[in-house]
Amino acid sequence: MKPVIAALQFQIRAADSPIEQPNQSESFGAARTRLVIKRNPAAVKTNREHIVDTLIMLAELACFEQKCRARFPIDEVIYNCTQCGGLLEVVFQADGVNADAIKKTWRERRTCNQMLDQSGVWRYRELLPFDGHHHQVVSLREGNTPLLGAPRAARYGGLDHLTFKHQGFNPTGSFKDNGMTCGVTQAIRLGRQRVACVSTGNTSASMAAYASAAGLDSIVFLPHGNISYGKLAQALEYGARTLEVEANFDQILALVRTLADRLEIYLLNSINPFRIEGQKSIIFEMLDQRDWNPPDWIVLPGGNLGNTSAFGKALRELCDLGFIRKMPRLAVVQAEGAAPFYEFVKLGGEFHSVPEPQTLATAIRIGDPVSWPKALHEITVSSGVVEKVSEQEIADAKAIIGQCGIGCEPASAATLAGIRKLTAARIMRPNDDVIAVLTGNVLKDPDYIYRYHTGQLKDPEGRAIEPHYGNQPRVVPNDPDAIAKILEE
Ligand code: F0G
Repeated sequence: MKPVIAALQFQIRAADSPIEQPNQSESFGAARTRLVIKRNPAAVKTNREHIVDTLIMLAELACFEQKCRARFPIDEVIYNCTQCGGLLEVVFQADGVNADAIKKTWRERRTCNQMLDQSGVWRYRELLPFDGHHHQVVSLREGNTPLLGAPRAARYGGLDHLTFKHQGFNPTGSFKDNGMTCGVTQAIRLGRQRVACVSTGNTSASMAAYASAAGLDSIVFLPHGNISYGKLAQALEYGARTLEVEANFDQILALVRTLADRLEIYLLNSINPFRIEGQKSIIFEMLDQRDWNPPDWIVLPGGNLGNTSAFGKALRELCDLGFIRKMPRLAVVQAEGAAPFYEFVKLGGEFHSVPEPQTLATAIRIGDPVSWPKALHEITVSSGVVEKVSEQEIADAKAIIGQCGIGCEPASAATLAGIRKLTAARIMRPNDDVIAVLTGNVLKDPDYIYRYHTGQLKDPEGRAIEPHYGNQPRVVPNDPDAIAKILEE
């Protein structure tokens, strides 16, 4: 097979200069020649207002399995290696990258009013495999999520300082938007009209929004009775055909994969490598916001492990290309009842899925995470750790994050619960520089919040969860004296 390789071109330019659109359909050889020409030092301009350097990065799909590494064109519609069944990833070829110049361009773009530059994903487009297709980008101005200091949560977690990167500030309220803008853009690039996903809720909300924004048909498959109303409501409101299947996430993923070919549907689960590419921007933006100062730790919840794969890949690329000199350690936190990755890393040997995963943090109620081989690689490369936390620990940590004025959905709170355990075990030190990624907005699951604060929350086995940090509402009479008395108590 003769691979057709997309050219990913670095262009360091003033924020308002026109976007060049290189040809994506050229052959490997032609792109190589162009790369050599572009890197001719004579062509390099040093005027900082204009182009200061150019470089082409070649992008293609590669099998993640080290013993296979089969290559495929960037526009081939496959989700697994056709030779060995392994996971796929996007790979780039680049050398001589001027990291400082690119950092400067990325910073300048923040002040620009163009759509691509306003997006906290597409601002970093030099490290995304879409050159030549920027006119097809579907953006809701995703990313641009803040870093928030949280002293109270830091104390609870046993740290001197703790910073949250809150992905719940995204257009549909979760980190999925960072990946979905790329996934749906790839669907457009491939000329697909129908997209689908199985989801614990956030992927479906995000896909429904981006598909509708792009004029595509979207079909979401949900585990019946096991997603929060906030997320189900989003899928309905954004106009997705919504199918609630009597099965769990892992079973439905298998079902949807058999349907994808038959119905000509483009699959947008995190097995899709273009979603992983988009989620890398969470790390790019985080480090840009910290003036490229890597923290000691990045903590995130683990479900299907797509985000762990994306974070690790982003960090490796930034190290390889000279953007950062130190690799932060990844800490992945799972819920006790859905912790196959934790058990695997702890025990070694074969990977065993959990047939009936259970947790009230429904976003991470996944027993057979597809991306575990990638996640294992990223944990190994970053000297990372995997932790698991109980339902009570998640619920209390979530209430503490709420008390910081920040708030998040249950799965996100696994981060703080995990940090508390990791500092207690002295794996994390109190003065470590830690960023925890809050993956979803506080309003994603209001039912959980109400039950916790009113003492009605029960774990999947029916045991009561204690509202240690509960804030019970009180019904009062329409009587100023009575109310004044209550408030003085
Ligand atoms: N946090 C939230 C809020 C999520 O929605 C998810 C995954 C995760 C963490 C775990 O991320 O799968 O990359 O390890 N939600 C997916 C969904 C599965 O369908 O919305 P992961």
